[in-house]
Amino acid sequence: MNRLSLLDDFGPLSPAAHAPVPVIARRPAQLVGNTPVLWIDQPFAPPGRGFLAKLEGANPGGIKDRPGLHMIREARLRGDLLPGAPIIESSSGTLGLGLALAGLTFGHPVTVVSDPGMEPAVVRLLTALGAHVDQVSSPHPTGGWQQARRERVAELLAAAGGAYCPDQYSNPDNVGAYRPLAAELIAQLGRIDVLVAAVGTGGHSAGIAAGLREHSPGLQLIGVDSINSAIFGQPVGPRLMRGLGSSIHPANVDYAAFSEVHWVAPGEAVWACRRLARRHYASGGWSVGAVALVAGWAARTMPPGTRIAAVFPDGPHRYLETVYNDAWCVEQGILGVEPAQEPDEIAAPDEYAVTGWTRCSQVLDPLDRAAAGAAGVR
Ligand SMILES: Cc1ncc(COP(=O)(O)O)c(C=O)c1O
Repeated sequence: MNRLSLLDDFGPLSPAAHAPVPVIARRPAQLVGNTPVLWIDQPFAPPGRGFLAKLEGANPGGIKDRPGLHMIREARLRGDLLPGAPIIESSSGTLGLGLALAGLTFGHPVTVVSDPGMEPAVVRLLTALGAHVDQVSSPHPTGGWQQARRERVAELLAAAGGAYCPDQYSNPDNVGAYRPLAAELIAQLGRIDVLVAAVGTGGHSAGIAAGLREHSPGLQLIGVDSINSAIFGQPVGPRLMRGLGSSIHPANVDYAAFSEVHWVAPGEAVWACRRLARRHYASGGWSVGAVALVAGWAARTMPPGTRIAAVFPDGPHRYLETVYNDAWCVEQGILGVEPAQEPDEIAAPDEYAVTGWTRCSQVLDPLDRAAAGAAGVR
């Protein structure tokens, strides 16, 4: 298949392109992108002082439909993924949905490697969409569930000849996939002063910020992470929240792009998710709640007129048995946690292990990879 026929069948080839959703789509992949923006103010900020939420839950599967399709399209064009060959990837769910869409679109079987924390509804949904879900049963002693999943992916790749793993943690196409989202935001909002984004692989924060900075060079990027996540230099611990946070240090995180990072605890995200749902109808999962909490704080504390965009990666449906289930939240001790008005503040990301909403305006790569690269260390 040449580039032109790919364009005809599956929408824009260039990640910078910005194609409208057709009135009648011939393929589900054409329904990805051009998601709406919703104004969010109270109870996060006083009237007139809100933020603009980009509702990525309006994609057929969620935000990761974008990198799912883009990484597979590019791998096929490079010849890294041969026609009909299997795709195997580790995912907490959202990329699995995007890869299921890519598999269906381009004709590849998809295996999603996950862990017991994947919601049963997501396992069923992925299976219904034609993907195979392979669950690891125990965490890696130091690298946690993520490392265990990555090792299982390596095992499956070795066993299946010609199989391809997109490796969302370090594949630059995961970052490049978000150029259209940045173009959409510019078309929808014009100038943007602040972007608030959750960080898991680092893909969407890096890609959207890079695209926005071409138009708004002074953009501030606020990263939102989970407590007990290693990404920004905190000690790893058990995490209830999925999507944001990681027990590894993904290469796609663009540390230099962030002006500050906030860590959020599960109870605080639950409070924000439920408030969003009640007041604004639009809500989502852990990352949506955590991002809303931080974006609301930015809207309250930054000068009036600051234009703040926030990315809501998915919708609420897969979280009905967790975030929105009173009994489950009581069991976890996270129901009725009202977040503080202001986050705690630490001067360095590893000052101490944070247990609730905390901010740090020093953002560093815990592995200092830029310096290692400059010194020729690999
Ligand atoms: C629901 C959800 N929110 C946020 C993220 C983090 O996005 P990224 O991997 O682009 O950093 C993910 C990643 O899997 C996700 O699934």
